[in-house]
Amino acid sequence: MNKIRKELDLLKDKINSLNYMYYVLDDPEISDLEYDTLFIKLLSIEELNPDFITEDSPSQRVGSLPLDKFKSVDHKLPMLSLNNVFHSEDLTSYMERIEKKILKPYEKILFSAELKLDGLAINLLYRNGVLEVGSTRGDGFVGEDVTKNIKTIRSIPLKLIGNNIPNTIEVRGEVFISKNGFKKINSSHNEKKFANARNAAAGSLRQLDSNVVSKRPLDAFFYSIGECSNNFKINSQTELLSQLSKWGFKTCSINEPVLGKTGCQNFYKKILSIRDDIPYDIDGIVYKVDNILDQQQLGFISRAPRWAIAHKFPAEEKTTIINDVRFQVGRTGVLTPVASLESVEVGGVTVKNATLHNMDEIIKKDIHIGDTVSIRRAGDVIPEIIKVIKKNKNRQKIKLPSNCPECGSNIAKEDGMAFAKCTAPLICSAQKKGAIIHYVSKKAMDIKGVGEKLISRLVDENILNDISDIYKLDKKNLKNFIMNRTIREDSGKEYDITLGDKSIDNIINSIKGKMEVKLSNFIYSLGINEVGEVTARSLANKYKSINNLINAKYDDIILLKDIGPVAALNIYNFFQSKRNIDIINKIISAGLNFILDKSNNNLFNGQTYVITGKLKNFSRQDLEERIINNGGNISSSVSKKTYALIVGSDPGSKLDKAKKLEVKIMTEEKFINLK
Ligand code: IVH
Repeated sequence: MNKIRKELDLLKDKINSLNYMYYVLDDPEISDLEYDTLFIKLLSIEELNPDFITEDSPSQRVGSLPLDKFKSVDHKLPMLSLNNVFHSEDLTSYMERIEKKILKPYEKILFSAELKLDGLAINLLYRNGVLEVGSTRGDGFVGEDVTKNIKTIRSIPLKLIGNNIPNTIEVRGEVFISKNGFKKINSSHNEKKFANARNAAAGSLRQLDSNVVSKRPLDAFFYSIGECSNNFKINSQTELLSQLSKWGFKTCSINEPVLGKTGCQNFYKKILSIRDDIPYDIDGIVYKVDNILDQQQLGFISRAPRWAIAHKFPAEEKTTIINDVRFQVGRTGVLTPVASLESVEVGGVTVKNATLHNMDEIIKKDIHIGDTVSIRRAGDVIPEIIKVIKKNKNRQKIKLPSNCPECGSNIAKEDGMAFAKCTAPLICSAQKKGAIIHYVSKKAMDIKGVGEKLISRLVDENILNDISDIYKLDKKNLKNFIMNRTIREDSGKEYDITLGDKSIDNIINSIKGKMEVKLSNFIYSLGINEVGEVTARSLANKYKSINNLINAKYDDIILLKDIGPVAALNIYNFFQSKRNIDIINKIISAGLNFILDKSNNNLFNGQTYVITGKLKNFSRQDLEERIINNGGNISSSVSKKTYALIVGSDPGSKLDKAKKLEVKIMTEEKFINLK
């Protein structure tokens, strides 16, 4: 037995190392045939000895049974984002801010200049050198467990190589698909088309079937670490990059230590001029203060490090002609003017429509139908019109309709208000459809199988009138209704929706499967104006039940951090509407149950924390949010009621006071490990 295990271990190491040569170093050592022979040998030994299959075996890269959904994983240290600058002047202001903090003229600061890869961030947790969990960034605290998918990426080490491997380490980087890889998947007939390489990478990584993922040309570069044990010491970002490659990670080969703002700008200009020749998409440059001690001194602002900044490339601009303008009615009744354009390629995507935002914007930019305009598309943002390039002789004025284009009701546009609104939320089918589409969407109730077209049709046929009608859908009404109805697309193409029994079952099961829902998701799904996910989460954490929220007073809602007067009024007014309350009651009668957020596990229930000193791993705001979201309180001064004082470096007088009052004192690390 031992002999077999030994042989297997040798074989695994050999194949892992060949993978590394091929996928990371791009320097294959043997022929494909020789490689395949070794791989088949590995598979056959493992088949006979399934107990010997380990997580780091290359056989684990080929995908396995599809999942129902991804589990969530807590990142050990939050995954931060980067602040952006677009122009040279903003870069100068950034440099001035940091030079004040570290007392070094900015031209003397060494930066690690790196490409800003346009993929999606991942976090890999290695324990004892073996890849244990791979996750997406999620909201920065909690991501999705995509380990099975990550393992299919051949350039990602399943087992680290070299020395100084910490017991536990989170390694962070970017998953992407190269420009060529993207062309290949988009030209293959049996794959769905993606708008760009980033979407293709994101769509692939979030596939539930890892067999499908293993066929997608995903790749990854690594550039930072999160939690790390063993007192692993590193002096600079440059050193970190070289250590990551020594452990077997692929790092981007285009990066340079550069001196000062001048060095940063020269690197930026150089890369901008060769951007098209780089085999993968990038959307800017990241400058990171190289020295780790300086980084610590600079710390964080909110969710982003102060020691790094992304210098984004300008969004690509193109000119085209406005053929027409129509008004789209959103779920809150707001009319948005949308220009139909002569189609044009911008940043690799064909653009046919662009938003004109609102009437004030149209007047300000003096936009008319027939004009030649310049348009811009930045990342995933909806394309917009920058300015008129040439006025057409026969240009036509864009007029706000006096009636809603969807339901014919009156339009209200008050003086001084940029937005025009349809005045009939209860009648307007566009608003009903919008509300229901939002309700079932992923971040809201996440009900699968009911897409926009189906909802649109069900609203037109009066089967769905409001969100509570979702719970009236059953096999019978779906089957009777759906079969043989003709749908007309914008393009004029017609086809029948013929939902089979299986799809109908999926819809019904999905609705049934979502009868237990996080309170915060439900609040978000109500579609209250200006209540996004974060606000919904704060409301759920504070009020703990929908009834408490329904009865909340404006003066109480406004006390919540991050909720301004407009959002507070929207929330209050929403629950003053009898119709809204009726709808919520109908949903509750249908059997919906609310659970409090997972993160709200009352870990710090009722405990009051005080924070002092400079934090290494969190911004103060993040730490406070984490405590509050888990049922704790924050106070600005230490008293007998304080549960614990969290101490960063250079603590203030609060530390003395805590010692005097014998209040518990915790380092940041100790706090992080509270679970
Ligand atoms: S460092 C605390 N380096 O940009 C440092 N990020 O806008 C955080 N990104 O979430 C990241 N290329 O997904 C870093 N060379 C690079 C990067 C990079 C792309 C992404 C990353 C991050 C996002 C922030």
